[in-house]
Amino acid sequence: MSTTVRVWDLPTRIFHWALVASVIDLVITAKLGGDAMAWHFRCGYAVLTLLLFRMVWGLVGGHWSRFRSFLYSPATVLRYLRGQGAPEHSVGHNPLGSGSVFALLGFLLLQVASGLFSDDEIAALGPLAKFASGAVVRAATFYHAEIGKLILLGLIALHLGAIGFYLLRKDRGLVVAMLHGDKTLPFTASDSRDDTKARLLATVVLSACIALVIWLLKQAE
Ligand code: HEM
Repeated sequence: MSTTVRVWDLPTRIFHWALVASVIDLVITAKLGGDAMAWHFRCGYAVLTLLLFRMVWGLVGGHWSRFRSFLYSPATVLRYLRGQGAPEHSVGHNPLGSGSVFALLGFLLLQVASGLFSDDEIAALGPLAKFASGAVVRAATFYHAEIGKLILLGLIALHLGAIGFYLLRKDRGLVVAMLHGDKTLPFTASDSRDDTKARLLATVVLSACIALVIWLLKQAE
């Protein structure tokens, strides 16, 4: 008997696809430079807002979006790699995928943070650069433009490769679940809460994150 489980609540799905759109925009505008940098900054602030939202949602969001639901011990990861995973590992992020999720979130945060302190000494000056010493700004700029972007492109390639692998080799359509939220499973599992109350809570959290980012930028004016 198979059951349908709500794995990704609507706020997590919107977070994911808004993040994808923003990161694509960031890559394109960084390549274009010049006037396009205005959009690079705007999308950077959008990613910062999304990441702040996801950090809170990892604590109060739907069951499978909570960090504790995909925080695995090294022993569990090793068992999973040896093919001894538990059935519930296929519901949310599995022990291998969870590492890439935390890495993506962490390095995206580092990328945005370093961008805020970057200065290309031509036309693009991060809003917080004026508060830091020259050495910090140079280090942030070097990391942002030379290191962080490569790490992120590598992680995104790995992310897409893993999704393709699960689709082709394991016949698991992870992408549709990130679109409509549900997975059909051969066992029962708890649903992520995704009712009006949960969505209202997400709206309040997102509004607070937007307000925090606007406040931060106002301090830097
Ligand atoms: C800029 C590119 C991308 C970034 C930065 C990114 C980032 C992420 C992050 C952070 C998560 C964790 C979601 C959460 O728990 O909040 C995730 C999950 C996921 N992403 Fe992406 N993503 C990207 C592109 C894509 C694309 C293009 C697809 C589809 C073709 C995709 C499909 C998925 C799926 C299916 C999951 C859930 C994986 C699982 O079941 O464990 N992602 N992604």
